[in-house]
Amino acid sequence: MTTRAAKTTVKASPKAKKGAPRASTSNAPPLTIAMPRGRILDEALVLFKRAGIDLGAAEKARAGRKLIIPIPEHDVRVLIVRDADVPAYVEHGAADLGIAGRDVLEEQDRDLYEPLDLGIGRCRLVVAEPEDRPVDEMAKVHLRYATKFPELTRRHLQARGIVAEIIKLYGSIEIAPLVGLADRVVDLVSSGETLRQHRLREVETILEVSARVCVGRAAAKLRSDRIDDLIARLRAVVPG
Ligand code: PRP
Repeated sequence: MTTRAAKTTVKASPKAKKGAPRASTSNAPPLTIAMPRGRILDEALVLFKRAGIDLGAAEKARAGRKLIIPIPEHDVRVLIVRDADVPAYVEHGAADLGIAGRDVLEEQDRDLYEPLDLGIGRCRLVVAEPEDRPVDEMAKVHLRYATKFPELTRRHLQARGIVAEIIKLYGSIEIAPLVGLADRVVDLVSSGETLRQHRLREVETILEVSARVCVGRAAAKLRSDRIDDLIARLRAVVPG
């Protein structure tokens, strides 16, 4: 895959200092960060605050339906987007960096650096099937998998040597095997409650997921000072 950790191009600056980062005095535009709405955003805002970058205004503005949120005191601009859209904003340079789940990053496999795993938004991508209708992969002629992650599913099936049809859905994946749309699902599990509610059992974990910082190629070159400083601050507060 092309996605890779930026071991050399984007790295934590050893000179990053504690305390609130200075607002820029140059003519450069604010550092633009694409953030996914939802639980990752909530957890990310806590991490940023601990790192000395209070993006609380993003929370307030989001409540007011604003999706482009300037934070002039940190010379930052936050874009609130769908989680699956973060990599596109970053790859095309509309955002300098973004925060996205490993699930989304690996599904899209874009040309991005991933300099830091934030350890937030933890969940797993699993294969699951109805408790009372386990699939016999060898016996079943036409297997169908429903998922929001067709590419990760395709790679998983290929690695297992399983031939199956992949049905792309956009949500509520768990009902697919209950109403005859699929034999199995590939979906995210956090607490496991949704699987339990629908009497599905986990067959296998495909991917351990958490949210990562992703950086575009151009930004990694042109804004390395700002990005290195931000990554160093975040790295210092990421647990474990
Ligand atoms: C996600 C995921 C599962 C659920 C897992 O769905 O796709 O359905 O959360 O969480 P749990 O293990 O804690 O029950 P999401 O809430 O994003 O909605 P969706 O069904 O529209 O994808």
